[in-house]
Amino acid sequence: MPETAKIQIGDINFECPIIKGTENEIALDIGKLRSSTGYITLDEGFANTGACKSSITFIDGEQGILRYRGYPIEQLAEHSRFIEVAWLIIWGELPTKGQLNQFSSLLTEYAPLHTSLEHHFDGFPKEAHPMAILSAMLNAVSCYDPDLLNIKDENQFVQAAAKIISKVRTIAAYSYRSARGYPFNYPHPKLKYCANFLHMMFSFPYEEYKAHPDIEKALNLFFILHADHGQNCSASTVRMVGSAKADLFSSVSAGVCALWGSLHGGANSEVIKMLEDIHKTGKDPQYYIDLAKSKESNFKLMGFGHRIYKSFDPRAKILKEYVDKALNLLNKKDPLLDIAKKLEELALSDPYYIERKLYPNVDFYSGILLRAMGIPNEMFTVLFAIGRIPGWIAHWKEVLEQGEKISRPRQIYTGHTIRDYVPMKNRG
Ligand code: ACO
Repeated sequence: MPETAKIQIGDINFECPIIKGTENEIALDIGKLRSSTGYITLDEGFANTGACKSSITFIDGEQGILRYRGYPIEQLAEHSRFIEVAWLIIWGELPTKGQLNQFSSLLTEYAPLHTSLEHHFDGFPKEAHPMAILSAMLNAVSCYDPDLLNIKDENQFVQAAAKIISKVRTIAAYSYRSARGYPFNYPHPKLKYCANFLHMMFSFPYEEYKAHPDIEKALNLFFILHADHGQNCSASTVRMVGSAKADLFSSVSAGVCALWGSLHGGANSEVIKMLEDIHKTGKDPQYYIDLAKSKESNFKLMGFGHRIYKSFDPRAKILKEYVDKALNLLNKKDPLLDIAKKLEELALSDPYYIERKLYPNVDFYSGILLRAMGIPNEMFTVLFAIGRIPGWIAHWKEVLEQGEKISRPRQIYTGHTIRDYVPMKNRG
């Protein structure tokens, strides 16, 4: 393979280095294109732009491959626990037993919220969306640890990471409880990560919630599958905010906001709304298949399609198999699962979806799993966020460690050229 590429624009010749990744992805380093030629590149939605080098997650969208730090998602989903995966994603290696125990102890220590932070929940209206609460509260948490706003060493970074990973669960559970007027459940020091979250969500003073092992396992799997996904919209947001040297808390909080969007993490909630609509109204699933095909409708088949995957999303594959198993184990039936399978069957045999290589993504089956656990729809994207926190932290860390420049894309200006100010009396 050549080490440089030559670009010719009229009589201008530009030569630039070719960059190769460890999995043989190749890129043209066009960093000097503008200073050498006057041209910039235009790539809306960054569909063909590598914004950084990253060693966290490898995705091959054509073959449906996903690996965290080199480990296949299938192996991690089968053998690992979420906190172990979080460590792997952030620090690059599977933790030793000692490292894992130490980190778990930190998570236990940091799980409670400052009492004053608990009062913040009174300030949100009952109908406030829990993603808005999560984003606001992550920033609020940092106000109680001003030292961690300017991380100077590894020890402070570990503290900040552990605080966010641990407290995000408490914040999520408290937003669910406060919306319903339920008392808060303090984190239980003896419970593991997932069981503790379920306890904070569902225990009552008169009845302690004991997580069914299969529910705990399902939540663990859900979090692992969502832990990172390369340069997606929210991770890129975190990287962009972090590149301005914004602190870890506000960068991650920005990631929550990006994830909330219905084309990103918000899709898991929209999928269930669509399936519920079919179920309640008795609409033919074909209705949504056709609606998404029509350009006038502006509607997309939720949980379908992906910027990178042009074959099966491996996370959707794992979830689809697991949802069936989990419903059996829990002795539950969900009519929405049959509707989802029907929609998938219709889409995968429809030329529109086949030609565009549109397959179910991670959000297509995840909501059905969350419903089986008793998680309400408005909390789906919050659970996605809890799972994605390790990825966001790892991206923030990578930006700093690699000494990346501040993210600042250029634009092709298409507005008015210069014109003179018009006094109010002369305006029509
Ligand atoms: N339903 C119907 N048509 C679709 C869908 C869909 N879900 N997704 C893409 N298409 C069509 C587009 O309209 C476009 O058609 P065209 O070539 O005739 O114009 C073609 O497929 C290519 O799609 P793009 O818009 O170029 O795909 P892009 O990479 O920009 O978008 C996205 C990816 C946002 C995920 C899109 O597929 C989508 O909106 N899906 C539904 C929402 C969703 O499930 N989001 C979750 C994604 S996973 C995640 O973020 C965790």
